Amino acid sequence: MKLIIFDLDGVIVSTDKYHYLAWKKISTNNEMEFDEKLNNELRGVSRVESLKIILNFNNKVIDDVKFNELLEEKNDIYKSSLSSLSEKDILEGVIPLIKSLKDNGIKIAIGSSSKNAKTILKQVKLIDEFDAIVDGNDIKNSKPDPEVFIKCCEKLSISNLDSYVFEDAEAGVEAGLRGNMKTIGVGKEKLKKAHIHFESLNNITYDTLKNLKI
Ligand code: BG6
Ligand code: MG
Repeated sequence: MKLIIFDLDGVIVSTDKYHYLAWKKISTNNEMEFDEKLNNELRGVSRVESLKIILNFNNKVIDDVKFNELLEEKNDIYKSSLSSLSEKDILEGVIPLIKSLKDNGIKIAIGSSSKNAKTILKQVKLIDEFDAIVDGNDIKNSKPDPEVFIKCCEKLSISNLDSYVFEDAEAGVEAGLRGNMKTIGVGKEKLKKAHIHFESLNNITYDTLKNLKI
């Protein structure tokens, strides 16, 4: 274990409800259905892929101009809600785990599909804590493709086989598995494909991870 890669949304900070509210508004304004179940399918998936999923669910076809308009509109709504984020929104257990990993010489990285990852990290004042940050601006293929995680390993010259991934989304766990990494699911909803799952990062330390039989 040399590198721990954290997904951002849903692992470090929860922005789920802001994505939900923004997509809900876009959907309502365009006579499309959108509910929490569909929102769950968008977790870990890029903005472009998310809109494709919503359109597909609603059997709706739009041209490229409208498609890009909706992407921009969604992002404007989402970004305006990010301005209220602060350190208080960091999920439980994150800060002690980061400290424990650093104290034990483990590198830490962010591997996120979001193009807003750096804005979020600045808002919650964690931007300077990570050895590497790879986000939606750096990749061609969104999770479940492993590109975002592989790039973290490459940036730090650490083998994927020595890397663990923390994820709250099925697409992210799949990406970690395809990248031949140890995957740790996190969140209330159990991710069955992950090597192991924790409800939260509370009380997880370097020792917890080192002693995992995965
Ligand atoms: C992921 C979220 O982190 O980022 C997804 O889990 C989201 O729900 C994706 O669609 C892209 O985010 P953004 O900020 O680039 O629109
Ligand atoms: Mg996530």
